[in-house]
Amino acid sequence: MIYENALELIGNTPVVKLKHLVQSENSELFVKLEGFNPGGSSKDRVAKRIIEFAEKNGQLKPNGTIVESSSGNLAIGLAMVAKMKGYKMICVVDPKISKVNLNLIKAFGAQVHMVEKADEHGNYLKTRLATAQLLERTIEGAYWPNQYNNPENPRAYMESLAREIHSDFQDTLDWIVCPVGTAGLITGVAAEMKKLSPSVKILAVDAVGSVIFGGQPGPRRLLGIGNAIVPGNLDKSLYDDVSYVNDADAFYITRQLVLQEGLLVGGSSGAAVCAALRLLDDLAEGQRVLAILPDRGDRYYSTIFSDEWMSQHDITLPTSIYKSISIN
Ligand SMILES: Cc1ncc(COP(=O)(O)O)c(C=O)c1O
Repeated sequence: MIYENALELIGNTPVVKLKHLVQSENSELFVKLEGFNPGGSSKDRVAKRIIEFAEKNGQLKPNGTIVESSSGNLAIGLAMVAKMKGYKMICVVDPKISKVNLNLIKAFGAQVHMVEKADEHGNYLKTRLATAQLLERTIEGAYWPNQYNNPENPRAYMESLAREIHSDFQDTLDWIVCPVGTAGLITGVAAEMKKLSPSVKILAVDAVGSVIFGGQPGPRRLLGIGNAIVPGNLDKSLYDDVSYVNDADAFYITRQLVLQEGLLVGGSSGAAVCAALRLLDDLAEGQRVLAILPDRGDRYYSTIFSDEWMSQHDITLPTSIYKSISIN
């Protein structure tokens, strides 16, 4: 297949059926590998959609500057799309960002603005959002997509990811498992899939320590999933259940996905598969479940895949996330 440019590589990501982590013989767990997008995550879809919408409605003009707060993946996607379309890009990031992501953002030619002030739980989101807003006000020709409250964020998933899922599975899925951060992915996928395949159920996956679904705020190391605020994109009528995953369980499954399935994915993907395995354990046999895995794992070599980093942060991997998973 020959493409005209890298932007055409966004979407149409592959789906794989897990063979080793699923214990039940009659149930099936599929994963959609969003890490196959050119910037390495599902946020490439959002970056392209948001920028093209802002161009159309005049919010973003030639030679303009895009300013966004992102823990990494949207920043990488926006930096890639901005560079290809000739815009400047400033990414507002915090000290939790991995060195790999920081270098990737710079490699795509974006500028980095590092915030320093954390809240009482060690989270930086509020400072990052305030900084992005301030930069938008003070830089001429600046545009802040504000992924948390931008309807184009869920729309990006309605028009691409959800339709890809429906074209692969039609009405045969019982559950779709979606990790939640800004809630763009779950809202877009759920809104469209519930129209196309009304019987499908949606499981939201949140991090322990996140407040999105009413949990208690607390420290967490998972990136991309969980939040210190309730995102404006969240539509509470669209999900059927919520599953909480802690850092250790998510990182354990992230590592098992490489060891047992050959899939090098990120921590929120580990959380999604962890929640999906628990769901399968609770359901009757014969279920078909699809988990969406937002990014690839190479950006986590120095964190989730590093024993030294784990012990520095007092994260002890469990021997099993639940009774029926055995470790080899
Ligand atoms: C690493 C990671 N986790 C989770 C998510 C969840 O997506 P959202 O921010 O749309 O809720 C994303 C989105 O791309 C992501 O990149």
